[in-house]
Amino acid sequence: MASRLGWFVLGGFAAAAAIVVGAYLFVALGGVPMETTAPPLPFEKTLAKMAIHVAVADSRGLPDPLPYNEQNMIAGAHLYKDHCAFCHGIPGGQRSPVAKGEFPPPPQLFEPDEMVTDDPEGVSFWKVTHGIRLSGMPGFGDVLTDEQRWQLAMLVAHADKLTPAVRAVFAAATSNNPSAKNSSTCSCMGSMMSNCSGMKSMMSGH
Ligand code: HEC
Repeated sequence: MASRLGWFVLGGFAAAAAIVVGAYLFVALGGVPMETTAPPLPFEKTLAKMAIHVAVADSRGLPDPLPYNEQNMIAGAHLYKDHCAFCHGIPGGQRSPVAKGEFPPPPQLFEPDEMVTDDPEGVSFWKVTHGIRLSGMPGFGDVLTDEQRWQLAMLVAHADKLTPAVRAVFAAATSNNPSAKNSSTCSCMGSMMSNCSGMKSMMSGH
């Protein structure tokens, strides 16, 4: 009996070692593509979805402390234009080069089949606050206030219910938007692309 148990334990260790060595060799021999242009690995999407599902679980029931009104939606739209649009697009806009080149691709949050209107606002608040690891989604917890992140969560949750006043924020040329002047996006994008105003006018579709 003891020797049977011994073999069983030994077998367990051998299997565990084989998995570790196999995983090491898989990575060491180039099994994990590091190009954003490469197709996803088998199970990559499933595993990533599972991990994010668990990570956001506690924020599901977190209610937006702000009242749902046009003022907060407009504030959210201004923030979105400054910090999110070049990845997530604007209503009726085109997919930006950044959006086309990233892996995983940033969902276009105003496209009907990519919206997050079914997600609780608490979940989007979590994602905007913490970002999503191993994706291009940045965490804004240190750069935007709680109120601003809730306004953004409110906006994306109601992406299918934009009033004309909210749409007007997106329609206005970004480069003339005074709130964009102090925006960190401008300098950050500016360092990525030499021509910031070019990027901005591209986003607004002019
Ligand atoms: C540099 C590009 C980039 C910027 C800027 C960016 N995001 Fe994202 N975002 C992503 C990517 C990529 C994903 C997809 C991650 C994934 O597939 O798991 C994502 C995911 C999300 C999601 C979840 C979408 C879903 O389908 O579950 C939300 C909500 C979101 N972003 C909101 C925002 C908001 C609001 C801002 C601005 C404050 C922002 N993002 C800025 C790249 C970006």
